Amino acid sequence: MSDEFQQDAVGLLEGINSTRAIRRYRDESIPEKDLRDMLFAATRAPSGSNRQPFRFVVLTDSEKAKQAKVLIKQGAESVWRAKKTNDQYDQRSGADSASPKARMARTMDSYVENFDKVPALILPCLVRYREPTPMEGASVYPAVQNLLLAARALGYGGVITGFHHMVETELKNLLGIPEEVFVSCTVTLGKPKGKHGPVRRRPMNELVYGDTWNESPEWAVDPAGTRHTSAGPPRKPR
Ligand SMILES: Cc1cc2nc3c(=O)[nH]c(=O)nc-3n(C[C@H](O)[C@H](O)[C@H](O)COP(=O)(O)O)c2cc1C
Repeated sequence: MSDEFQQDAVGLLEGINSTRAIRRYRDESIPEKDLRDMLFAATRAPSGSNRQPFRFVVLTDSEKAKQAKVLIKQGAESVWRAKKTNDQYDQRSGADSASPKARMARTMDSYVENFDKVPALILPCLVRYREPTPMEGASVYPAVQNLLLAARALGYGGVITGFHHMVETELKNLLGIPEEVFVSCTVTLGKPKGKHGPVRRRPMNELVYGDTWNESPEWAVDPAGTRHTSAGPPRKPR
């Protein structure tokens, strides 16, 4: 395997603006050189005092990896079943099969059903050296985003989930993860079945303020052609 870092064709800003949650993967394993470059990027992330408390458990196709995927699939099924009911995914606008809500529900159904077949499952962990603080996650989540951005740069896609919570004890036993280690999330990775495209968020003037809360500066204007989403709780009128 070459020790050169691969050249990527996607500009940094373009990559940031098109790193969407990808939940459908082609049935292709990820070559080790690509895993290496993605995990290298993850391990270059910042952390408090540069202590680098992050560790990444990378699960592909070993027997243990398969067992871990099956375990987390069980967590995924129960989390998604509850969310689908609570958030009424198949009612109101979701009753129309062409609605964004119904499409999202189909994507989630297929994601959960195929969870045990994801090409790679990464567990970004944080080795605790003191009692948890409110800033603790900030020493692991930048690494998670680096991982997703590097995946995007190499033509892969992924998504963060919290599906491991329900099965965390069994997972730690299976993989030998010490009790005190914080498993921050799961990240699944693979070649997307669909295409990458621009992320959709709220207009930036709803999200960026100047020196007064809820008042955005004049320069906080989205670039021409930006498409938005109405996802998220309704904003308070200004
Ligand atoms: C903290 C966090 C937790 C998340 N948990 C889940 C999850 O449990 N299951 C899932 O399918 N996606 C999960 N996601 C993915 C989000 O749903 C996704 O990032 C968001 O909807 C934006 O998607 P987009 O970038 O494609 O617009 C999570 C994302 C974050 C940042």
